Amino acid sequence: MSSAGTAQSPDELLDVAIEATSRAAGIVESSAGDRSALVWKEKGESDFVTDVDTRAESAIVAAIRSGSPDARIVGEELTPDGITDGAGVTFVVDPLDGTTNFLHGYPEYAISIAVMRDRELVAGIVRNLTRDETFTATRGGGAYLNGQPISVSAQTEPYRALIGTGFPFKRHDLLEKYAQQFIQVSRHTAGVRRAGSASLDLASVACGRFDGFWELVLAPWDIAAGVLIIREAGGIVTDLSGAPKPVSDGAVVAGNPDIHPWLLRMVRKAVDNDIESLI
Ligand code: IPD
Ligand code: CA
Ligand code: CA
Repeated sequence: MSSAGTAQSPDELLDVAIEATSRAAGIVESSAGDRSALVWKEKGESDFVTDVDTRAESAIVAAIRSGSPDARIVGEELTPDGITDGAGVTFVVDPLDGTTNFLHGYPEYAISIAVMRDRELVAGIVRNLTRDETFTATRGGGAYLNGQPISVSAQTEPYRALIGTGFPFKRHDLLEKYAQQFIQVSRHTAGVRRAGSASLDLASVACGRFDGFWELVLAPWDIAAGVLIIREAGGIVTDLSGAPKPVSDGAVVAGNPDIHPWLLRMVRKAVDNDIESLI
């Protein structure tokens, strides 16, 4: 499995990520049965973490170290560094995306691992831990749900579209601007959903359950795998300026090729002159 010294292909890197996900899934799933035993720690306002997050990330790190020994790891709980310009392989890890859902027993949380080579996304996995659903992609190799090819929806009509979103719950200063966007999008679509796990929201765009998605405040580990999976499924992911979204902090707008430009226009229009402050 390990091929220190020789470059691993995207498929080999995906295999490392799949193995790491399986090990962490065992830890999260075995802790889900007894919520009263979970210890909540507060990282910041409305931002919680449990020892399950850190134990899951440790298991992921061990699997990556054995499968891809030279890789760098950016992980939310243990090594929350920025993505650097450096060459080589970087794994971008969210060991539990949807921790607040997990703490409350709300069944929408996932493990998300992406692999970048020389700053380009080459492989990604998002595993929904409460349904038997694993989303994967490799650069140029397409996107899959449980091994079956997936694509973004063919919806062209905003009034029929279902749009996913996330609230800026850690940035109360953004709530009013966000609310303007929410009103604008709600007015013109079939519905807006907030499920609480950004990686799964992006996976839902990739497989056509959502026609679009936007959120103002996300971290690299929330989005890295989902961005690749959407692009490989034929969708578009940008920042609020409309530029292709890099693996970085900040806002994300995603969708199929018809709904994305419309959604971008709506969320920009809603905040009008303030758009620069959100980019
Ligand atoms: C959070 C989830 C949520 C999003 C937050 C993220 P976490 O990740 O993805 O949907 O709205 O911004 O921080 O903290 O549960 O890993
Ligand atoms: Ca997350
Ligand atoms: Ca997390």
